[in-house]
Amino acid sequence: MSSQKQIDLTINGRKYSGRAEPRTLLSYFLREELGLTGTHIGCIVGKCGACTVILNGNAVKSCMIFASQAQGSEILTVEGLAKGSQLHPIQEAFWENHGLQCGYCTPGMLLATYDLLQRNPSPSEAEIREGITGNLCMCTGYVNIVKSVKAAAEKMAPAKKRKARS
Ligand code: FES
Ligand code: FES
Repeated sequence: MSSQKQIDLTINGRKYSGRAEPRTLLSYFLREELGLTGTHIGCIVGKCGACTVILNGNAVKSCMIFASQAQGSEILTVEGLAKGSQLHPIQEAFWENHGLQCGYCTPGMLLATYDLLQRNPSPSEAEIREGITGNLCMCTGYVNIVKSVKAAAEKMAPAKKRKARS
């Protein structure tokens, strides 16, 4: 008898359902069962951050939790950042500041940035470095990533102020 269970999630504002074994990691479930391959898999032991997603408002490494633990949750993956052809300001900032090379770390880096800027809309360089400390990049040396996060914070600030005033 199969030990698979149905998992229901809201991802990027859409309802998704799929079946998973109790031991299936959320990262695999997103990619293999739901076809959301923007979430990358690197180390599978919680060290590299490539698999970072936003789960119920907080950044998590999706290789560190089982799909069954996420039952009923709301998830944001990298596929949910852009609105149609309009990139999210964080994506624009990484694009404009060369915050990526091979791109393998990028989905996780973008979502770690998203999480950081939700909590701290105007981080210092030290706070940015601390904020992305769980996300490894083999290519860039981090300088352009830090620049990109700063630029993203600047892009997002006016929108936040406008919202606060309305
Ligand atoms: S694959 Fe999840 S932290 Fe590396
Ligand atoms: S851009 Fe290649 S690992 Fe970060």
